[in-house]
Amino acid sequence: MDKSYKIFLSEKDMPRQWYNLAADLPGQMNPPLGPDGNPVTPDKLAPVFPMNLIEQEVSTQRWIDIPEGILELLYRWRPSPLVRARFLEKALDTPARIYYKNESVSPAGSHKPNTAVAQAWYNKQFGIKKLVTETGAGQWGSALAFACSLLGLECKVYMVRISFDQKPFRKLMMKAWGANCIASPSNETKSGRDILAENPDTPGSLGIAISEAVEEAVTDASGETRYSLGSVLNHVMLHQTIIGLEAKKQLELANEKKVDVVIGCAGGGSNFAGISFPYVYDKINGAEIDIIPVEPTSCPTLTRAPFHYDHGDTAGMTPLLAMHTLGHSFIPPPIHAGGLRYHGIAPLISHSVHHGLMNPQAIDQLECYEAALTFATTEGIIVAPETGHAVAQAIREAKKAKEEGREKVILFNLSGHGLMDLVGYDKFLNGELTDHSMPDSDLQKFTEVLKKYPSPQ
Ligand SMILES: Cc1ncc(COP(=O)(O)O)c(C=O)c1O
Repeated sequence: MDKSYKIFLSEKDMPRQWYNLAADLPGQMNPPLGPDGNPVTPDKLAPVFPMNLIEQEVSTQRWIDIPEGILELLYRWRPSPLVRARFLEKALDTPARIYYKNESVSPAGSHKPNTAVAQAWYNKQFGIKKLVTETGAGQWGSALAFACSLLGLECKVYMVRISFDQKPFRKLMMKAWGANCIASPSNETKSGRDILAENPDTPGSLGIAISEAVEEAVTDASGETRYSLGSVLNHVMLHQTIIGLEAKKQLELANEKKVDVVIGCAGGGSNFAGISFPYVYDKINGAEIDIIPVEPTSCPTLTRAPFHYDHGDTAGMTPLLAMHTLGHSFIPPPIHAGGLRYHGIAPLISHSVHHGLMNPQAIDQLECYEAALTFATTEGIIVAPETGHAVAQAIREAKKAKEEGREKVILFNLSGHGLMDLVGYDKFLNGELTDHSMPDSDLQKFTEVLKKYPSPQ
């Protein structure tokens, strides 16, 4: 029996290819649609993304080589450790074996740099000089700022105003890595000005910030600016699969023959895709695995929202994507897991859920903080509030294994640390947080907008 706590992979054993789930999904994926209602062709996306990333976005090739130049960037923190959560297991007195993949060891503190360095590298190869993006609480913005600093690209980040005002530290990380971070909505874009004219005190939202970033990229006259997105799109999911591919090798090293449950928290879906897609491949090929994306009850995208065509942003600048969506004018409640407050979720995940390959769950904010504190006082890591959702589900599964008297193997992705998010912990400890389960009336109100868009097949 393996007695390890941490299972390391050597750099030479790091995966050399990403796994593309689009090659194996059952049924036909619904293509993104343009304003004329027809599928968007790659040339239409060219002002937004470089062509090498557009090719990945539409690829159905199963394995895609990771260029040597990207591997060199990833070696700064990869392979990340896989950890057996023995102290948590003991505290729960469970027969389950719980493993977590620790993505908090990256320089920006989360899984986001896995795709940030890849996107920055492909843009640089294509001759792009500046990347523009949005960020909620700042995890993605800081990851892209870090990646751009390594590759000598200019970086501009539209940060959702409420976080810009309340969470100065990630803003300072972006500054340290040389990026220009401004509050969204701003006066620098038409979409920002329009929203400010209507509602000058708006706290902003991810949807609004995406509108501003896309607008800046497509209106830049030099042709040397592109937009970069930290989640949702196929190529972002692809870059994150290195997480699950490493985990598979590490579980083999730990002599685990089978995984029973795979868990990740889900905002736009990228860390969950990263840990789970290599296991979805196994499930499609007959393995029995419970694959669980976890979301907040306040943003129940996968558990309650319809599978429908919708825009990825508030102003309707992006193509229509077939996804589970709360409607692009969704205004999220003030929960502390800022990265889980997006209205939609990756089409690849939506399609998988639609075909019964995943088993989404929603958990209330208070249970997530409770679980995060149990984790902090056993395993030691103070996780990001987003990650708290994965921890809470892992604890639920470990308790279930105890009730059933089964030795299950549970794998979850520790998507980030929470050292920049301690205000949320403080509020929880002071009893100032509440649950915000979405009422049916709100779900109906926000999804009303979808009626004007087509239904996916
Ligand atoms: C630590 C952490 N986990 C999860 C997420 C959710 O994003 P995604 O669903 O793309 O992984 C975020 C988003 O910012 C995050 O910062």
